[in-house]
Amino acid sequence: MTRVAIIGAGPSGMAQMRAFQSAAAKGAEIPEVVCFERQADWGGLWNYTWRTGLDEFGEPIHGSMYRYLWSNGPKECLEFADYTFEEHFGKPIASYPPRAVIWDYIKGRVEKAGVKGWVRFRTPVRGVTYSEETGLFTVTAHDLLGDRVYDEEFDYVVVANGHFSTPNVPEFPGFSTFGGRILHAHDFRDALEFKGKDILIIGTSYSAEDIGSQCHKYGCKSVTISHRTKPIGFDWPQTWSEVPLLVKVEGNLATFKDGTTKTVDAIILCTGYQHSFPFLSDELRLRTANRLWPLGLYKGVVWEKNPKLFYLGMQDQFYTFNMFDAQAWFARDVMLGRIALPPEAEMTADSLAWREREERLDGDHDMIWFQGDYTKELIGLTDYPMFDIDGVNRTFEEWEHHKEEDIMGYRNKSYRSLMTGTMSPPHHTPWMEELDDSLEAYLRTESRSDAA
Ligand SMILES: Cc1cc2nc3c(=O)[nH]c(=O)nc-3n(C[C@H](O)[C@H](O)[C@H](O)COP(=O)(O)OP(=O)(O)OC[C@H]3O[C@@H](n4cnc5c(N)ncnc54)[C@H](O)[C@@H]3O)c2cc1C
Ligand SMILES: NC(=O)c1ccc[n+]([C@@H]2O[C@H](COP(=O)([O-])OP(=O)(O)OC[C@H]3O[C@@H](n4cnc5c(N)ncnc54)[C@H](OP(=O)(O)O)[C@@H]3O)[C@@H](O)[C@H]2O)c1
Repeated sequence: MTRVAIIGAGPSGMAQMRAFQSAAAKGAEIPEVVCFERQADWGGLWNYTWRTGLDEFGEPIHGSMYRYLWSNGPKECLEFADYTFEEHFGKPIASYPPRAVIWDYIKGRVEKAGVKGWVRFRTPVRGVTYSEETGLFTVTAHDLLGDRVYDEEFDYVVVANGHFSTPNVPEFPGFSTFGGRILHAHDFRDALEFKGKDILIIGTSYSAEDIGSQCHKYGCKSVTISHRTKPIGFDWPQTWSEVPLLVKVEGNLATFKDGTTKTVDAIILCTGYQHSFPFLSDELRLRTANRLWPLGLYKGVVWEKNPKLFYLGMQDQFYTFNMFDAQAWFARDVMLGRIALPPEAEMTADSLAWREREERLDGDHDMIWFQGDYTKELIGLTDYPMFDIDGVNRTFEEWEHHKEEDIMGYRNKSYRSLMTGTMSPPHHTPWMEELDDSLEAYLRTESRSDAA
């Protein structure tokens, strides 16, 4: 029987399992699917852990999410086309759910699909090699609970291990004698640690913006954001400032490129992540920066040099869950023989055309429509339900506009579901005032003060 290995049971790996299960539910014969997952549960980054560094088995901690993390984009942009928020929660809910709510939602679809038995939890993949002779992959996995390393052969491998877990950690002069804590966003867990403190953030992307906002919300004294390229430029609260790149620290005194200084208690490096595949042999390994069109992947999914290998979710992301679905359905249909692949040269030419377009993109608007077009093209090739992708693009644009208007208030806004047409209700409590990020608190229909 044909065998498929999926590496990682995060949203991308879950999408791949759901794709196969949905084909089976429509009567197709599907291969045996084995999903290897290092963590004890599924959900990838959405499966929160308090741990940092190494886990109880000495494995690197995958999680980069933190307490009080709320979705940073409208849920209407990531909604599954085959399983809506309304179906899951039984009622419309507000547009920017906290982590626990999103985790519950993504688990709901695959629990309903009944595919948990396909996952081998606590089983990191240590190696993947391909044999030209047999045409098979050998996957080496480590069953941590039984402490047993074993090999199994597969016809296809789907790499879905995410790319926001291995931190990119630059060093600046004076770090080794800094008088406070230095950490990367990957190890940030609880904003309360920085209550009353002056924090310096390096980097200007989503982690910088959101970790700064969390620290502000939970009572830090000031936020200083240091940029390498350009400032973020939102209308920040008064206790914030944006400064050029850090040059050095002496004790607790930070000096920036324009000569200005600031005394800080902690430095948080929001300097992004590396794509990391320590288990893949060189000829199978994607090497890329975090961008919308990594090269080497036909339709952003198929490893051109060996089209029995697939990568999901390796692009920088405006679109997430429904794009992972589009990719997983496409990969599934290649594996089921429903989609024939062109010769390698044609696949590469197709990828290069996308890359050329990617290089001409100017700003977020272009990037959103680019990723929307990509998602649309993939969905058009499979039976994944097509949805109003232009509508999602426009919702992303509204989101950006709302951030420009009020960076501390954008999460109070509501949007219409592109899947059900239902307008989301406003959340019962403004984001800045809601310190409880639990699922129970979010799903309440009234604010705590109304309830009292
Ligand atoms: C701090 C943060 C906040 C984010 N917030 C949002 C948001 O609000 N909205 C949004 O849409 N997206 C958000 N994202 C983007 C996020 O990338 C996606 O939502 C999603 O989690 C990606 O899914 P994935 O399955 O590709 O990867 P991941 O979620 O990273 O899952 C990968 C899985 O692979 C497993 N794994 C890794 N290596 C191995 C191995 N060797 N063997 C076996 N298993 C392995 C991991 O344990 C993990 O379970 C956020 C990302 C970060 C870092
Ligand atoms: N609440 C949420 O939902 C939430 C919160 C946090 C993160 N996220 C998600 O997490 C993902 C990753 O975001 P990210 O912000 O961690 O990474 P990212 O988008 O890749 O951004 C990396 C940042 O680090 C900077 N940088 C890299 N190396 C540097 C160096 N040596 N010196 C100075 N600056 C450097 C980059 O600056 P340049 O521009 O100069 O290159 C860029 O600003 C995104 O998908 C995001 O949506 C979501």
